[in-house]
Amino acid sequence: MIAGSGLVETLAPRIERVVGKLPRRIFVLTSAPIWALWGHCLQQSFAEAPVVLLLPPGEKYKTMASIDRLLREVVMAGGDRGSLLIAFGGGIVGDVGGFLAAIYMRGIPYIQVPTTLLAQVDSSVGGKTGVNLPEGKNLVGSFNHPRAVFADIRVLGTLPDRELKAGLMESVKAGIIRDRSLVRFMEQHVDDVLRRDEKALEKVIVASIRMKAGVVNLDEREGGLRMILNLGHTVGHALEQATGYKTLLHGEAVGWGMVAALHLARQRGTISTHQFERLESLVHLYGPLPPLKLRTAKVIAATGGDKKNIGGVRRFVLPIGIGDAGIVEDVTAAELEAAVNYMLARAGEKHA
Ligand SMILES: NC(=O)c1ccc[n+]([C@@H]2O[C@H](COP(=O)([O-])OP(=O)(O)OC[C@H]3O[C@@H](n4cnc5c(N)ncnc54)[C@H](O)[C@@H]3O)[C@@H](O)[C@H]2O)c1
Ligand SMILES: [Zn+2]
Repeated sequence: MIAGSGLVETLAPRIERVVGKLPRRIFVLTSAPIWALWGHCLQQSFAEAPVVLLLPPGEKYKTMASIDRLLREVVMAGGDRGSLLIAFGGGIVGDVGGFLAAIYMRGIPYIQVPTTLLAQVDSSVGGKTGVNLPEGKNLVGSFNHPRAVFADIRVLGTLPDRELKAGLMESVKAGIIRDRSLVRFMEQHVDDVLRRDEKALEKVIVASIRMKAGVVNLDEREGGLRMILNLGHTVGHALEQATGYKTLLHGEAVGWGMVAALHLARQRGTISTHQFERLESLVHLYGPLPPLKLRTAKVIAATGGDKKNIGGVRRFVLPIGIGDAGIVEDVTAAELEAAVNYMLARAGEKHA
């Protein structure tokens, strides 16, 4: 995993350092808008232009149908067992590319070049790849680690502000659950980070990646520790589902989900009121999060389908102080309701 500035334009020699001599066929999976912005830059260091595979942007193309089509395109373009795939895009391209590489001829090597903040700090780390089914998100996939990840801070320069802020919610999460100094840094450098100062962004990205990689190393298959990465995600996923995956970006939903989790933690006393105020402020410093117009009952109903509720137990990740987190399995309906009520009140009042 390398994070830095200007990696895309020097990609070929960097990949060579990892895999040895470059294979005859190199494929780049990307989407048209990203390729239009950064394709020339990526091609620059390759003696022979890679074969470009396009995935239209949007969650609705993260499907088996896309995988089927792309697999056949790779065959037609002469892909063999020695071919290399580069996933060049956001989390969707990364998840689809990783899965494609896992199953093409039972597996070919691949490289992640994430171009959104979310993909750099979260989805390109940890080896989870896959696609959605009409019945639910990420229901098909495999664990497949890339040979290398190159997170180029410069490509974030064209990322829409809203995407940047949404990705930063995962960094806020990283700090809360595992890295007190990241929390402090993000509190003190809001302006630098939001105006994309490269040094400030690099610091946030490197710390976030280090946190996730550390947790995943200890628990790749989510037996226990890896679950703390889901802080804010029980309610966050419920919000995404309750809004039909249309109005909220994932990071925004997680931002509101963290507000609910922080409330629950304060009620249980795993964080103090002072810590609660500090952490909730941190979430809003990287906002504003979009307003929500939802009923509490609808959000609570949507938490029922969360993957973390094994056998109906309401599992919840709660912060313990700042920089630590734990999993509780006995969250009552009343506690959840109070947390969701608090969050929805905040989400209504801010923009009323
Ligand atoms: N595998 C994992 O562990 C993991 C973890 C978290 C999320 N995910 C998945 O990641 C996906 C979301 O990823 P995302 O937030 O990166 O969204 P995304 O891939 O949809 O990218 C967001 C948008 O930004 C555009 N874009 C990307 N890079 C750009 C750039 N440099 N400049 C301008 N525009 C750019 C894309 O075309 C897209 O429209 C979801 O499918 C989610 O399930 C996976
Ligand atoms: Zn997330």
